[in-house]
Amino acid sequence: MVNIAILGFGTVGSGVAEVIQENAVSITHNAAQEIGVKTIVDIRGFPDSPFAPKIIRDFSVVERDPDIQIVVETIGGKTVAYDYTKRALEAGKSVVTSNKELVASCGHELLEIARRKNVNYLFEASVGGGIPIIRPITQCLTANELDEIYGILNGTTNYILTRMITDAAPFSEILKDAQRLGYAEADPTADVEGYDAARKICILADLCFGKSVDPDRLWVEGISGVTLEDVEYARRLGYKIKLLGRAYRLQDGRIAAYVAPHLISKTSLLSNVDGVMNGIVVHGNALGECMFYGAGAGKRPTASAVVADVIDAVKHLKTRKYLGWEESQPGYVADIHEIPFRWYLRTGSGLETIGRAFGDVRLISYPGEYPGAGPGEYAFATPWMTGRELAEKTAGMEIRSKFRIL
Ligand code: HSE
Repeated sequence: MVNIAILGFGTVGSGVAEVIQENAVSITHNAAQEIGVKTIVDIRGFPDSPFAPKIIRDFSVVERDPDIQIVVETIGGKTVAYDYTKRALEAGKSVVTSNKELVASCGHELLEIARRKNVNYLFEASVGGGIPIIRPITQCLTANELDEIYGILNGTTNYILTRMITDAAPFSEILKDAQRLGYAEADPTADVEGYDAARKICILADLCFGKSVDPDRLWVEGISGVTLEDVEYARRLGYKIKLLGRAYRLQDGRIAAYVAPHLISKTSLLSNVDGVMNGIVVHGNALGECMFYGAGAGKRPTASAVVADVIDAVKHLKTRKYLGWEESQPGYVADIHEIPFRWYLRTGSGLETIGRAFGDVRLISYPGEYPGAGPGEYAFATPWMTGRELAEKTAGMEIRSKFRIL
C-alpha cells in the first residue's frame, strides 16, 4: 500500500479523492499495489464530506509523515502551493499537481529539487485538463524535433466563444454558467484575459523546445474584446474565433510564443473543438501533425490526469522520470511585433482610408449590413504583415477589432 496526501480539497482535490476511492480495483491493478488517501490538508472544514476524518489543517504533519510517499498539490497559485511543494520534495516525497501557474513559473526550480532528491514532480493535469499531452510530448514523441505546438488551452473561454456563436448570448451570462459548472478559475480574469492559456502554452513550449518561457513576459490577448459582430463576420468568411496558445520555432533558433484570439478556418479540426473541450496540435519532423482532443477542464477529467500521475509516481517510487528544461537567455522568445500574420480588421474608417492603407482588400461586411454593427462599419482581411507594419498602416484609422487569421 502506498499512502498519499492531498493538499487542497477544492474541486480538483475532492475529485482526486473520489476517483481513487471509486476506481480502487482498476487503480490497484494498474499501479500493482493499493493506493490510499491517508491525509487531506485544507484550512476549510468539510464536516459533511465522507473524507472529513482525514482532513487536517497542518501541512507539517504530512511533511513529517514517513508513511506518505506521494503528495498531490491541488491548492493552486504560487504562494502556499510553492512552499508546500518545495517542502514535500525536500522531504523526499514525489509531488503530483494540476497547478499550471506554479509549474509555468517555478517548474524549472521544482524539477531541479526533484532531481536532487531523486523523486518525481509530475504535472499532466496542468495542461488540457484530462487530455494526455505532457506524457505524449515527453515520451511518445521524443523521436521528433518538435517545431510547433498550438491549441485551444482554456475551456472557459472556449465555452464562452462557442455559446457566442450558437446562442448569440451575452458574455456575462455565459461566464456565470461557466463558473457554475466549475470550469472557470475563482478569478475569471485569468481565463478571460488569456493568462491561464499563457501558463499552459509556456509549459508546453518549455517541454517541446527545452528552454523556459516566462509566462509573465509572454504576449497575451484575451477574449474580452471579441464581439458578436466579430463572430458573425468570421462566420461569413468561413472562420470561427478561437483563443489559441501558440509556440513555434523560428529559423534563427528563437521561438515565437503568444496567446491571442484567432480566426481559424471551419475546415480545420481545431475549429470543431467546441464548448469546454480543448484541442492541441503538435507538429514534429518525423510524425507530421497530431491532434489531442478532450475535456480541458472540470473536476473529474482533471482528477483523471492527476490520479494517472499518482499511479505513475507509484510505479517510479525508486526511479526518476526525466522531465525538465533549461533556463533561457533574454531574447529567446522573439518580439511578437516582428512576426508576420494575416489579420482580420473591423473598422469605422471609410473605404478610401482602407484603400489607401491596404490597396484592394476583400470586404467581409459593409455599413448597414449587420443590425448590431457600429456606424460606418467595414470588416476585411489583410495580406501577411507584421504587427509593426499593421500598426503603421492603421495609424489614424478607427480600429474596432483586430485578430490574427490562422
Ligand atoms: N479554468 C481552466 C479552464 C481550468 O477553463 O480551462 C482548467 O485548467
